[in-house]
Amino acid sequence: MEKRETFSSRLGFLLISAGCAIGLGNVWRFPYITGQYGGGAFVLIYLLFLVILGLPVMVMELAVGRGSQRSIARSFHVLEPQGTKWHWYSWFGIAGNYLLMMFYTVIAGWLLLYCLKTARGDFVGLDADGVAGQFGQLMGEPGIMTLFMALVVLIGMGVCLQGLQNGVERITKVMMICLLVIMAVLAVRSLTLEGGAEGLKFYLQPNFKNLMYDAEGKWRLGESIFAAMGQAFFTLSLGIGAIAVFGSYIGRQYALAGEALRIGILDTFVAFVAGLIIFPACSAFGVAPNQGASLIFITLPNIFNEMPLGQLWGALFFVFLSFAALSTVIAVFENIISFAMDMWGWSRKKAVAVNLVAIFLLSMPCVLGFNLWSAFQPMGPGSNISDLEDFIISNNLLPLGSLVYLLFCVSSKGWGWKNFLSEANTGSGLKFPNGVRLYVSYILPLIVLFIFVMGYWNKFVG
Ligand code: PHE
Repeated sequence: MEKRETFSSRLGFLLISAGCAIGLGNVWRFPYITGQYGGGAFVLIYLLFLVILGLPVMVMELAVGRGSQRSIARSFHVLEPQGTKWHWYSWFGIAGNYLLMMFYTVIAGWLLLYCLKTARGDFVGLDADGVAGQFGQLMGEPGIMTLFMALVVLIGMGVCLQGLQNGVERITKVMMICLLVIMAVLAVRSLTLEGGAEGLKFYLQPNFKNLMYDAEGKWRLGESIFAAMGQAFFTLSLGIGAIAVFGSYIGRQYALAGEALRIGILDTFVAFVAGLIIFPACSAFGVAPNQGASLIFITLPNIFNEMPLGQLWGALFFVFLSFAALSTVIAVFENIISFAMDMWGWSRKKAVAVNLVAIFLLSMPCVLGFNLWSAFQPMGPGSNISDLEDFIISNNLLPLGSLVYLLFCVSSKGWGWKNFLSEANTGSGLKFPNGVRLYVSYILPLIVLFIFVMGYWNKFVG
C-alpha cells in the first residue's frame, strides 16, 4: 500500500478541520434555525450541547482516525476486537456523507450565483420585497441551479484531485483566513445599522417562550431541543467520519482534546458572528427572522444596498460565504474519495472521476425539489426534498452516528476506554480527563437518546 498522505503543518490540520466544520451550518443553517426556534434561548441550548455533547465526540472521532490511520472505510476494521461488527457502520457513515452533499452542493451553488448577482448589481435599487422576489425567481429555475451546483462539484473535485497537501490543504488554508477577516469587518457594519438593535435583542436575549411555543402557540419544546442538538452535531461535522479522516492525516505531537477545542472555538466564533451580521439586518430591513432556508438570501443583499460601495462589499461577502461552503464541500469530498481509496484501493484520480459523476446526479433531486417536483412536500406543507435530506442527516444520522463513535470508544466490546484515552492523550497540550468516564459512558448516550425520542414525539405525534 502507498504511504498515507499527511498534512504539512499543524496549522494546516487545524484550518482544514475548522474548514470542514465551518460551513453552511454556520452561515446559513445556524441563523435560520435560530430564527425559526425563537432566538437567544435556542442559542443558549445549542452552546450547551456543543460543550457537553459535541466536544467529547469530536475528540473521539479524531482519536479513531488517528489511532487507525484510516478513513471511515477501514478505521473500525483496524481497531475493533476480532469478531465484532462495528465496521458495518462504515457504510452508514459514508452514506451520510453522500446524503449531506446531495443538498449541500445545491445551496453552495446559490451562494456562488449570489456572488455574481451582487457583483453585477442585480439588487441595486430593489426594496426588501424586490430582493425576496429575486430569490423566489431563482427557485423556479432548475437550469441555473443545476449549472451552479455542477460548478461547486467541479471545483470541489478539482481541488481534491490535486492531492491532500497540494490541493485540499493549500487552498482551504487561504480561504479560511480570508473568511475570518471579512466576517469581522461585516459584523461591525451590520451592528452599526440603524434599527438593528431589535434584531440583536432577539438574537442575544433569551426568551424561553419562543423556544417552548411556535407562532401559533403550539407546544414544541421537545422539537426545539432536538433541533439544537442536531445543529450542534451538524456544525461540528460529527457522526459520519468527516472529522475522523483528518485525524488520520496527523502525527502524535499534540493531544486531541486541545485540538478539538480549537476547532470548536473557531467554529462557534464564525456561527456567532454570522448571527451578529444577520439578525440586526433582519430588523433593520423588516425581514422576519423565521423565513427558513431562504433567510440569508433575502436579508443580506439588503444590507449591501444601503452601503457605500455596497456592490463590492456584497460580492466579497458572498465570495467568503462561498468559501465557507466550499471548504466543507472539499473536506467531505476528501472523505468520500479517501473512502474509495481505502476500501477498494482505487487511485485518487479514479475516485475523483467516479464521484464527480455520482455526486452531480445525486444532487439533482434537491434541485428539482424546489420547482418541478415541488408538489412533493415530505416534511409538511411548504417543505421540499432538501428539508427531508437535511432532516435525515442532521437529526438522525449525525446524532446516532456520534453515538456509534462514542460507544465504540467507551465500551470494552469496542475499541475500549483505555485505548481511546491513551490515543487521545498522546502528545502535548490539553488532555481528555479520565474523570469524565462515567459521564461519557452512561449519561451522554442517554441524553442523546432521550432528546432523540422526545424530538420525534414532539415533531410527529404531540
Ligand atoms: N459542519 C458542516 C457545516 O457546518 C456540515 C457537515 C456536517 C460537514 C457533517 C461534515 C459532516 O456546514
